[in-house]
Amino acid sequence: MESHTERILITGALGQIGTELTNRLVEIHGADNVVASGLDRWQKGITAAGHYERMDVTNTQLVRQIVKDYEITTVYHLASLLSGTSEKQPVFAWKLNLEPLLHFCEMAKEGLIQKIFWPSSIAVFGKGIPKEHVGQDVVLNPTTVYGISKMAGEKWCEYYFDKHGVDVRSIRYPGLISWKTPAGGGTTDYAVEIFYEAIEEGKYTSFISENTGMPMLYMDDAIDATLQLMDAPKENLTVHSSYNLGGMSFTPKQLAEEIRKEIPEFEIDYKPDFRQAIADSWPASIDDSVAKKDWGLNYKFGISEMTGDMIKNLKAKLGKA
Ligand code: SER
Repeated sequence: MESHTERILITGALGQIGTELTNRLVEIHGADNVVASGLDRWQKGITAAGHYERMDVTNTQLVRQIVKDYEITTVYHLASLLSGTSEKQPVFAWKLNLEPLLHFCEMAKEGLIQKIFWPSSIAVFGKGIPKEHVGQDVVLNPTTVYGISKMAGEKWCEYYFDKHGVDVRSIRYPGLISWKTPAGGGTTDYAVEIFYEAIEEGKYTSFISENTGMPMLYMDDAIDATLQLMDAPKENLTVHSSYNLGGMSFTPKQLAEEIRKEIPEFEIDYKPDFRQAIADSWPASIDDSVAKKDWGLNYKFGISEMTGDMIKNLKAKLGKA
């Protein structure tokens, strides 16, 4: 590797956020300074990064060795189980969503790495918290396996910052909408599936009920926000658990109406499953004024821009343009 100020390791690099974040980090830092990792075997074109490591993030020895071998300075630790899947595998979800974060914080404490990004989620809020404009500092009361793991992770981030000065930064992502790589196992994933089905079948059965509002964010804005937070001067940051990020808020019914502007024959019906209870425990909208003030969070995509861009790109991807 050529010498460079930042050498980056991405875990979960083949996932919904990871694929797009890897591309952007390669554009900024050059392929040789970016190491992607995931569970899949390497194959040509698997990632834009200059290096790929097939790596189970719970294998502490292996992760530590890779950090040393590549002289990693910055870790984007994205590997995680989402909310629906976590309910089915609680013990594994805890292990995967928590332990590697702790190990990265330990490595930062030892001086092996300088900076960590770790995603939290709107799932941390939970029951009994007002639904609208949920603030940065409300009491967290998660009732899902995923939410509990993210809340604990946030507390560990804060702990390592307070006690050891570890530079670990985090965003509470809302539901993420993107066309390049599907998510999988999330409660907000209806807002991605709906586009595939609208284009391929002209209809969609939503597992979330028609008037359930949730905060959502288009991937382009999510990546911009992540990089903005990571670039912000350390002294500007006042939140060391995880920053609220609100994006846009809509219900399945409102999203269906937007899609109908582009695909007039589109039909939707509703069969809520176990994920409805998860959605019911989450906020409908988020107050993200602290992120706006501290590091200049802003958005390019509202529901119409996002819908137009999703349909255009997915049609091309699915050969329906
Ligand atoms: N999108 C995630 C999920 O639904 C929430 O962070 O699991």
